[in-house]
Amino acid sequence: MSGAVTVQSIDPAAAAETTLRAAAAKAGLFFGVAASPNRLHPIVGQEFNQLTPENDMKPDRIATSSGGLQNTSGADTLVNHAQSNNMLVRGHTLVWHSQAGALQGASQATLNTFIGNAINRWGSRIAYWDVVNEALEDNNTGRRRTQWPHTMNRDANGDGDFFDAGDTDVIRDSFIRAKQVVQAGGLTTKLCINDYDVEGLTVQGGTQNRKANALYDIVRNYRQYIDCVGFQGHFNDNPNSIITNDLQANIQRFADLGVEVHLSEVDIDDDLSNNDIGAGQAENYRKVVRACLNVTKCTGITVWGISDSESWRSSERGLLFTGGNGSYQKKAAYHAVLDELNKGRNSTPPTTPPVGPTTLPPTTPPVTSAPPTTPPTPTTGCSATVSLNSWTGGFVATVRVTAGTSPINRWSVQLTLPPGTTVTNVWNANRSGTSGTVQFSNVSYNGSVNAGQYTEFGFQGTGAATGLTPVCTAS
Ligand code: XIL
Repeated sequence: MSGAVTVQSIDPAAAAETTLRAAAAKAGLFFGVAASPNRLHPIVGQEFNQLTPENDMKPDRIATSSGGLQNTSGADTLVNHAQSNNMLVRGHTLVWHSQAGALQGASQATLNTFIGNAINRWGSRIAYWDVVNEALEDNNTGRRRTQWPHTMNRDANGDGDFFDAGDTDVIRDSFIRAKQVVQAGGLTTKLCINDYDVEGLTVQGGTQNRKANALYDIVRNYRQYIDCVGFQGHFNDNPNSIITNDLQANIQRFADLGVEVHLSEVDIDDDLSNNDIGAGQAENYRKVVRACLNVTKCTGITVWGISDSESWRSSERGLLFTGGNGSYQKKAAYHAVLDELNKGRNSTPPTTPPVGPTTLPPTTPPVTSAPPTTPPTPTTGCSATVSLNSWTGGFVATVRVTAGTSPINRWSVQLTLPPGTTVTNVWNANRSGTSGTVQFSNVSYNGSVNAGQYTEFGFQGTGAATGLTPVCTAS
């Protein structure tokens, strides 16, 4: 047993920390806040160990029309404050359709200039930068936005995505530039993509979360440039913005790609009456914090402001404190968060298999525990292979569907699970059945696969999933 494990086995009440930052640090994550220079009250450094500029690093504050920097004093104040209080900084944000200011309508070349100037100005003092913010459309369409800068995107071969070599993709091109700058400068800064309504595997009513699936595809395709994913966590009554039971499974599948995940802008409407998974705001906060704690690569949570009255959505009363102007009172939600953080990462999860010190899944991308049962030899139709990431009592399976010598338009994969094994979550596929023989089929956006190419879907389950022999059919 390691020292860390011994600490975590102490009665939590005896070991309880009394600030969010101390409790989070003990559990191995940051707990941060969004702030502006006029809100740098003592509470910021006392309770939080990470800071996101709420507005002062956005292009409308700091970018010139040619991609230079201006008016950086607010951002400097925040970075300095963070540094002198031992807080990490999440830079926010380089490429965004909103609050673009003088950069509105700029070319990729100008965006690249701005990316270089901004990253180099603060260097490794910024631990994480949101390179691209909110690239995906509202209303669970799973599509990119249609406003600038996404108007620069071109789908050269008309296959419905921007991932091909001949395509133009503002996400890819901005990340490539940012990565070049980080590498050239020898910086430790990690590069994140950030969005909202991407938190759960599903949205209200159990409909699959297409926006989350689209983000997953982006991260998977551009994994070499993307280090981290921010799930904003502005939870409210919008059917796509509610808290669902599959929050943990969703952020876990991103973590399984090898990226860090953050809950980057959390506020929780205090009247999530019928749509949420908890009883009241404090309980909802507890569930959200627990989901992060249960995902090893969930390395931080940031709340989007200190107090309700000073929040961008004050009418939702979604934060941890009341009061204002430096005088704050803790809400029930604060105490719930502190208590949950103090339990550490090893507490039993509410809806998914337990992870503990002896059973932690690998922190690197999913490792195949057994060789693929059927190698993807090209055939007409399709072939499928399964890789498993297992721990005692549970697993995540990634299934790769490879088209044969002809393109396919739809596919299905049949798997027979061992007795006692149950599927609890699925992404990038439709499913019928949860145990015994289970059938998976393509969803609207991944049925078409070119000859010799592949697509992947995944599922999570309880029990053990050894000896799976997938049978793939396609048309
Ligand atoms: C918000 C700020 O909180 C407001 O003060 C500002 O007027 C608008 O932007 N998603 C984001 C944040 O990524 O930058 C937004 O912040 C909230 C939604």
